Amino acid sequence: MQIVMEREPKLSKIDHLFVLLAEGARPAFTVGGKALRKAIDDAQFGGRGDESITILSGEPRKTTLIGLGKEDALSIRGVRGALLRVAKIAKAQRDKAIAVLFPYVIPKLDAAATMSVVAGFLAQADYKYDAYITVKKEDKQPHITATIVALPEIDAKLAKRIEHEVRAVAAGIRTVRDLANGPGNLVTPAFIGNRAQEVAKEAGVKCTVYGKKEIERMKMGGLLAVNRGSDEEPRFIVLEYAPKRAKTHVALVGKGITFDSGGISIKPAERMEEMKFDMCGAAAVIGTIQAAAALELPVKVTGIIASTENLPSGSAYKPGDIITMMSGKTVEIVNTDAEGRMILGDALHYASTLEPDHIIDYATLTGACVVALGSEAAGLFSNNDELAQKLIECGERAGERLWRLPEWDEYKELIRSEWADMKNSGGRWGGAITAAVFLKEYVDCPSWAHLDIAGTAYAEHETGREQRGATGAGVRVTIELLRSLSR
Ligand code: BES
Ligand code: MN
Ligand code: ZN
Repeated sequence: MQIVMEREPKLSKIDHLFVLLAEGARPAFTVGGKALRKAIDDAQFGGRGDESITILSGEPRKTTLIGLGKEDALSIRGVRGALLRVAKIAKAQRDKAIAVLFPYVIPKLDAAATMSVVAGFLAQADYKYDAYITVKKEDKQPHITATIVALPEIDAKLAKRIEHEVRAVAAGIRTVRDLANGPGNLVTPAFIGNRAQEVAKEAGVKCTVYGKKEIERMKMGGLLAVNRGSDEEPRFIVLEYAPKRAKTHVALVGKGITFDSGGISIKPAERMEEMKFDMCGAAAVIGTIQAAAALELPVKVTGIIASTENLPSGSAYKPGDIITMMSGKTVEIVNTDAEGRMILGDALHYASTLEPDHIIDYATLTGACVVALGSEAAGLFSNNDELAQKLIECGERAGERLWRLPEWDEYKELIRSEWADMKNSGGRWGGAITAAVFLKEYVDCPSWAHLDIAGTAYAEHETGREQRGATGAGVRVTIELLRSLSR
């Protein structure tokens, strides 16, 4: 949805007003005047989480009350569900212009942050990847413009600023979702390279895309090993957003496996189609840089993406192979399905040579992380308590939960190899941790964080809070972090 934020929207221009109300005392608001107040009272609306009532009277033609549940239990997550309900109704009724009133401040947030969160989720609430739906154009949904009624604490100037910021982040998230939802036969490494270049051009960001020859010259043994089974050439992509006033340099590293079959250690057929999402980390890096540039954040951001397919073939890398990585370290392959760490090992080494202040990587890295945390939180691993704490707080504010897991040296025992410097898999126990510990071997930076977004980057099914498919995980929390680093 296109987002507008106003203190007093003209209801005559609105098809459908949505009023989000919690149980208990009615908060103060002026929109709709006395008539709306009376209509709400007459409807005897309770505000329970499963309640909604549509009132047909006056201006606008339709007003729908959406229940939020108990006021003291208001949360970012609950609000998100309510906004998805809003979008569903607006879509089904073919509304073109809606207004949304959320007359509360979410606990632990202030008025401005509440408005950002509400507007940010609303911007995504009607999203659908329909590039391959071949129905006639006129049957497709009309574009919805959503006017959010600003809380009284927000003056007109601040409302416009929030509107601008929300649109910038929403565009970045849309880039991530479109790219990640795209099928593997379209979204190849070359496609990601081209898309990165397009986004960079629009955003005024520098972008360099390296092909196989250059990757060979850079001796990225991990990326090349994984690529050996594929007929698609690999790509190594570097995006550079370098504003003049930047004092801090952050490198963002993304896993770009455009399809992960497991390779010779092939995965079971069931749900293998989900492995087109194995490039969500790469997409998050592109979308975040797009948003950071649009927001003109005063932080230098370098995006680094390693991209290939992971397929079996006569030339594919095999269990037992020993691979020399870009850093010079050697890896004994015990499972070709542990390919993410192979390409990230090279990307993290490359990132370290740039000597940034912070490195953050994003990867749908392990099923073990999904076993541990499900889809409510991304796994966070870091060699720096301050960065870890900051990321957790930024995630809390942005509505993207991160949960820290350890990366202690003791776990290195599990990836010790008889024949090489390390193995590429430590087996089932602590699988998300041993993967992170492997990555750490390629990081030469005192402030690094690894986000395992395997459980949060895409939703297997639609839920009350999330549409099916790519979520845009990583963008919100990172933009929040870049903001906090620039303060
Ligand atoms: N891309 C997968 C991880 C994954 C699994 C992401 C499920 C999203 C949902 C990764 O490359 C992988 O296959 N990891 C293996 C590692 C194992 C072989 C050590 C895993 O998690 O099973
Ligand atoms: Mn894999
Ligand atoms: Zn993978």
